[in-house]
Amino acid sequence: MNETIALITGANKGIGLEIARQLGKQGMIVLTGARSLQKAEQAAKQLHAEQIRAYPVELDVTNPEHIRAAADRITTEYGKLDVLVNNAGIYVDHEGTDVEVMRRGFDTNFFGAYALTHSLLPLLQKSPAGRIVNQSSILGSLGTILTNEMYGSASAPVYTTSKAALNAWTAQLSIQLKDTPIKVNACHPGWVKTDMGGSDAVMEIHEGAETAVYLATLPDDGPTGGFYHKQDTLPW
Ligand SMILES: NC(=O)c1ccc[n+]([C@@H]2O[C@H](COP(=O)([O-])OP(=O)(O)OC[C@H]3O[C@@H](n4cnc5c(N)ncnc54)[C@H](OP(=O)(O)O)[C@@H]3O)[C@@H](O)[C@H]2O)c1
Repeated sequence: MNETIALITGANKGIGLEIARQLGKQGMIVLTGARSLQKAEQAAKQLHAEQIRAYPVELDVTNPEHIRAAADRITTEYGKLDVLVNNAGIYVDHEGTDVEVMRRGFDTNFFGAYALTHSLLPLLQKSPAGRIVNQSSILGSLGTILTNEMYGSASAPVYTTSKAALNAWTAQLSIQLKDTPIKVNACHPGWVKTDMGGSDAVMEIHEGAETAVYLATLPDDGPTGGFYHKQDTLPW
């Protein structure tokens, strides 16, 4: 199949929906993953109206059955996957310091991306140019929070540690896949005006999607195993 197939998680709103839009406008078939089928369908419908080939996928990344069903469906319908953007994420630090809050943050921000990627790896390996993009955050950058007072004082232990784990695994996976065509990178979208970023954020959503789109469309001689904002690397 000559088509490029992209799956984006958390694609029903915010940065994820915009990543799906920008990849769709480049001609890819985009699969809009969302926690419920209804949300995934709404996103696909919205993109269809913009002449984008978008198809809904019910995909709560913490639900193993959803992950299995998504992998089965992509296998049957397309036989490969070219782009996976692990964008779904939550910010739960305002909910307290209980260990259960920590587990919930990790379930979505780390284990969700980890489990989904491992289920889809056989399909990404069938692509001539697989791209995995992990939507992280500058708050997951240890090199930044230890040296930059503004980020260091954010007091977001759940978000910081779950995104730092995502970063560490991004590096590990890129090493594991270094002799294959698959490129694996993490990104920080910027502080973006979404439900998570809030209205004081400094970047519009279309700009916030740009780093993930850049990494999802890297050429064959592009980088792997990096952490990016725009086209600049960030410290891990
Ligand atoms: N906005 C920023 O300034 C900023 C900065 C740095 C990093 N990020 C990262 O960028 C990504 C997108 O954030 P955003 O700003 O677009 O936030 P958002 O508007 O709150 O969107 C988050 C998306 O993730 C989905 N999601 C949450 N839990 C999920 C799960 N278990 N399974 C599937 N989807 C799930 C949400 O679905 P529902 O609608 O069902 O909740 C929603 O679609 C996140 O990973 C976030 O950490 C954002």
